[in-house]
Amino acid sequence: MLGEKVKFDACFIGLFDDKLDNFYYKDELNKYFNGILDSYFKSGEIKAKSKEVTPILNPSLDEYKRFYFIGLGKSNNLSTSILRDSLGDAFKYLVKSTDKSISIMFDTFLCDKISPETTAKILGESYQLSTYRFRGYKTENVKQEKYISECMLVSSDGNQKVQEMFELGQIYGRSQNSARNLVNTPPNILRAEDIVSYCIEMSDKYSLECEVLDKDKCEELGMGAFLAVNQGSANPPYLIVLKYKGKEKWEDVIGLVGKGVTYDTGGYSLKPVTNMVDMKTDMGGAAAVIGAMEIIGQVKPNQNVVAVIASTDNYIGPNAMVPDEVIVSLSGKTIEIQNTDAEGRLTLADAITYAKFNGATKIIDIATLTGSVVSALGTKTSGVLTNNEKFLEEFRSATLKEDERIWQFPIFEDDRETVRSSKVADLSNAPSKDADVIMAAAFLEAFAEQTPWVHIDIAGTATAKSEYSYGPKGATGIMTRSLATLILNS
Ligand code: BES
Ligand code: MN
Ligand code: ZN
Repeated sequence: MLGEKVKFDACFIGLFDDKLDNFYYKDELNKYFNGILDSYFKSGEIKAKSKEVTPILNPSLDEYKRFYFIGLGKSNNLSTSILRDSLGDAFKYLVKSTDKSISIMFDTFLCDKISPETTAKILGESYQLSTYRFRGYKTENVKQEKYISECMLVSSDGNQKVQEMFELGQIYGRSQNSARNLVNTPPNILRAEDIVSYCIEMSDKYSLECEVLDKDKCEELGMGAFLAVNQGSANPPYLIVLKYKGKEKWEDVIGLVGKGVTYDTGGYSLKPVTNMVDMKTDMGGAAAVIGAMEIIGQVKPNQNVVAVIASTDNYIGPNAMVPDEVIVSLSGKTIEIQNTDAEGRLTLADAITYAKFNGATKIIDIATLTGSVVSALGTKTSGVLTNNEKFLEEFRSATLKEDERIWQFPIFEDDRETVRSSKVADLSNAPSKDADVIMAAAFLEAFAEQTPWVHIDIAGTATAKSEYSYGPKGATGIMTRSLATLILNS
């Protein structure tokens, strides 16, 4: 290990509290420290508690400039989320340092709790996710795009599978960072047409099919719900369909539907000043779907996937919709508008119907849909609702692997009655002030109909209000990984 010719700025070493007497590379490391490593452990100079990171200059400054001892706690307490948090803190440290190249001593991160493959994937993800920063538009003190020029995973047995999983983790991380970039981009720079350009370029790169429907085409098809949201805008709407064919026949198709509202002013039901700020993130669902397709395009699983994004902003203008209007959705169902700020569910209604037209046999939709879910669950847990418990369980197992927290809300028969309580139309887009997270889902369920469907409300989790262990403040790219893992595991 330590005898390699290559010189690295940093060397990552995982430390388990209960393995300080004997861990991989200890003897070699001890040589660097003239045998006093144990006294560092005893004095608490180097801590092994989880989330404790100790960077120490290599006294001999030869192969490595600095060692980063990364506390992982007790080995029988280790979980994938502790591993992610601890690594996140280490990479955060690294980004703030001058260190550019890094080698990770894989064996020191292993214990019975997590398989070597999973550990390698998490290392790859953490590297990409924790070193991410949004470039921004400052003309001075421009942030570096890439903080780390080289990151190598060193494993004692040279296991190829481990290197593959490390690379897979990096694919996951980079794709989630793409989602973060899309969400962080200001609304005047990322309009529906810019999401279209991104999707076309990405699908060319990874050989996905990409079909784009413009406003005329959407009108011709009768997407009255989606188009109602765009009526106040001078910016054209687009409906984007991405397809990945991983099976001989176009059957068993998973539909991914993402809310792609590039800015939500609320429309005539205008948002109050402080609530409007940050509504550039209202396409976080679309970004997660695009990020997941980016992973799928690279990993190429034996699955069929169709992604549908109905993208527009929600602006005010002479033609903007007003409350009390009745519109006709693509499905033929009529909708009474009671609040123009409940626009996401309108765009999703037609996108879900269109996913079914494209052969989706299961649908998962993801959206920054309601303030109600933020009140209920806060900013670290996404809300989920379903018409099919089995499908939700499949999704739940993906989220557990990816450590993306979800919590289920119910849809009861009287909730369905409430969204159908309009006097003038089949459905109302905002029938009640209470439990809107459930109302929104019950509304979407009416369009999913019998198709197994899961709805994810990420209004609270799509952005982080402050820096967290594996990402900076701003877009999180939440659910990119869980959506991809759902498909890869199906
Ligand atoms: N985009 C918002 C939901 C949202 C709120 C996202 C906070 C991120 C953070 C959505 O379009 C919306 O405005 N929902 C309304 C619905 C209401 C009018 C029925 C809401 O939650 O207030
Ligand atoms: Mn809204
Ligand atoms: Zn919205």
